[in-house]
Amino acid sequence: MTRTSSQDSRPCRVAVLFGTRPEAVKLAPVLAEIGKHGETLAARVIVTAQHRQMLDQVLKLFSIVPHHDLNVMRPNQDLFQITSRMLEGLGPILREEAPDLLLVQGDTTTVFVGALASYYLRIPVGHVEAGLRTGDKFSPYPEELNRKLTGALTDLHFAPTEVSRQNLLREGVLDSSIFVTGNPVIDALLATVREDYTFQETQLARACASGRVVLVTAHRRESFGKPFRGICQGLRRIADVADDIQVVYPVHLNPNIREPARELLGGHERIHLLDPLDYEPFVQLMARSTLILTDSGGVQEEAPSLGKPVLVLRDTTERPEGLEAGTVRLVGTDPDRIHGEASRLLTDAGAHQAMARAVNPYGDGRASELIVKAILDWWGSGNRPTPR
Ligand code: UD1
Ligand code: UDP
Repeated sequence: MTRTSSQDSRPCRVAVLFGTRPEAVKLAPVLAEIGKHGETLAARVIVTAQHRQMLDQVLKLFSIVPHHDLNVMRPNQDLFQITSRMLEGLGPILREEAPDLLLVQGDTTTVFVGALASYYLRIPVGHVEAGLRTGDKFSPYPEELNRKLTGALTDLHFAPTEVSRQNLLREGVLDSSIFVTGNPVIDALLATVREDYTFQETQLARACASGRVVLVTAHRRESFGKPFRGICQGLRRIADVADDIQVVYPVHLNPNIREPARELLGGHERIHLLDPLDYEPFVQLMARSTLILTDSGGVQEEAPSLGKPVLVLRDTTERPEGLEAGTVRLVGTDPDRIHGEASRLLTDAGAHQAMARAVNPYGDGRASELIVKAILDWWGSGNRPTPR
């Protein structure tokens, strides 16, 4: 999108929009970086609150106070409800704020609707974590289409890796609008992880002291029903692989996950079903785990940096970098496969060792700096970041 030179003499107004826990984790370091450039950039924070409690946990940790809060979350919301509530709510706010750039992150409904609302108002869009693809429009659902549609509406694409840049180029995105920056999830992780951390949560402290922690997270919409029941059946069997195994599962607040998780995993003395953890203890728990099983995007990015083997409870991933590095393996939702792969890593030290290597495919903690440099360059007051 072309801009006039008269705009360059005043700060660029950047509206930073997010709604769920992972978006907040990944945009918090970008907001902090924007804050270092007060003369050239002015951030306005808009939250949809597609998540309420899980978003508030992150807002509190990073001391972020939104300028606007749509508060859209309802129990067991469906895609029609959140899409329409957000689109209606964002119109007046974006008109009032009239930002020079809207910044979104990732592939949630908040991201797609934010980009669409901006397009309707001819506001340029910057997309953090651009270019991730599985090529299967129903896996993950609806995230694959959310990010493709957002890509079509985006002016500045902040691709975490060269793989994601290539995905965008294949779709005809202009090379000059793509910046390979790494993923700010690593900025947040490196700023948070600490060796000397002491858990305040008794159950976590006890689980860590009692044996090997197998950490679990799972929440994907395409797994609701039979696939998620398969995941739970596999997990229950993992807890019995050895009597020092402590399965720790902070359960997502989505009722489609909580109810079967309680039904199929409850009542086992070494399976700990917890509420979602604050980001800080969650990160320390990852760092102390022997093995991680997850369908989370963010956790697939964080675990390799911590040198933790990850089994991905999905049939596809848009994050092939960890697979290529050999620290992440796709195991799907079949209970026998989940149990078999986990059991091998828990009983064969060599197999575990081979996957437990620290690699940093998503950057070294400078993604926010590179994203902000690219915005400054676009606004006409800084230098283009050095391509990596
Ligand atoms: C959403 C995103 C998904 C992302 C995930 C991160 C969409 C369609 N889905 O999935 O891409 O990976 O967030 O976690 O954008 N709930 C609460 N409190 C909360 C959060 C959720 O009670 O703080 C419950 C509510 O009943 C809510 C339900 O979870 O209706 C589903 O939330 P929603 O954001 O629609 O879907 P997620 O599965 O969280
Ligand atoms: N996370 C957290 N508490 C938890 C589980 C996860 O703070 O109990 C963090 C995790 O470190 C990562 C992010 O939440 O940064 C991932 O969120 P989620 O799995 O909900 O979403 P996804 O990444 O799959 O979109």
